[in-house]
Amino acid sequence: MGLGADVSQGVQVREAVARGLAEFGPADVLFNHAGTLIVKPFLDVQEHEWDWLMAVNVKSMYLVTQAVLPQMLAKGAGSIVCTSSISAQYATPGEVVYNASKGACQMFARAIAVEFRDRGIRCNAVAPGFIRTPHGEREMRDLQQMGVDASEAAISLQQGRLCEPEEVARAALFLASDDASFVSGTQLFVDNGFSAV
Ligand SMILES: NC(=O)c1ccc[n+]([C@@H]2O[C@H](COP(=O)([O-])OP(=O)(O)OC[C@H]3O[C@@H](n4cnc5c(N)ncnc54)[C@H](O)[C@@H]3O)[C@@H](O)[C@H]2O)c1
Repeated sequence: MGLGADVSQGVQVREAVARGLAEFGPADVLFNHAGTLIVKPFLDVQEHEWDWLMAVNVKSMYLVTQAVLPQMLAKGAGSIVCTSSISAQYATPGEVVYNASKGACQMFARAIAVEFRDRGIRCNAVAPGFIRTPHGEREMRDLQQMGVDASEAAISLQQGRLCEPEEVARAALFLASDDASFVSGTQLFVDNGFSAV
């Protein structure tokens, strides 16, 4: 069952988290995954676009984590996974705002890990390469419209092939699970070697 909310809106987030608590009890795992992107030349980025992307990709992590963490702290255990990206560390022309937002996601995960380590909370980031999702396909199309070679062939040179969504899900599940009991504050690349070059 899903509880819908615009994760960039504090009131909606707090209402959804309260409904989740009432219906399912305290959360064991939080996956901060919702996100989107803008691809356009930096000098054309409008102030409202910066605000919107930062709200959806970064403020959402603050809002949802702040709403859910008290449930985890009350029982002294919880695992948080935040979706970052290769874009947190590797820049692409036309993605300044997205790059900045994902850099913030990565640091958010590390900082939560440090502040709450001694209260039973783990927090990690998962950093995928190009994934075959509507977001990934739009990113490739928009980059190519800007003249950036982001064809499937070009991406294959960097990461072998496109990543399938399930491959990211399995990595996120590992970080969320007790199998990762001593893993906190890290960023797990799911990129088939993109970041190893
Ligand atoms: N696709 C890629 O190549 C790729 C690579 C690295 C990281 N990521 C990251 O993975 C995450 C998921 O991306 P995806 O590829 O599945 O994208 P997608 O566009 O296919 O799906 C994004 C999901 O986020 C939800 N969402 C967007 N804005 C929201 C909001 N304000 N409130 C609530 N939900 C909202 C959408 O409803 C959708 O379900 C994002 O954080 C993205 O930055 C994607």
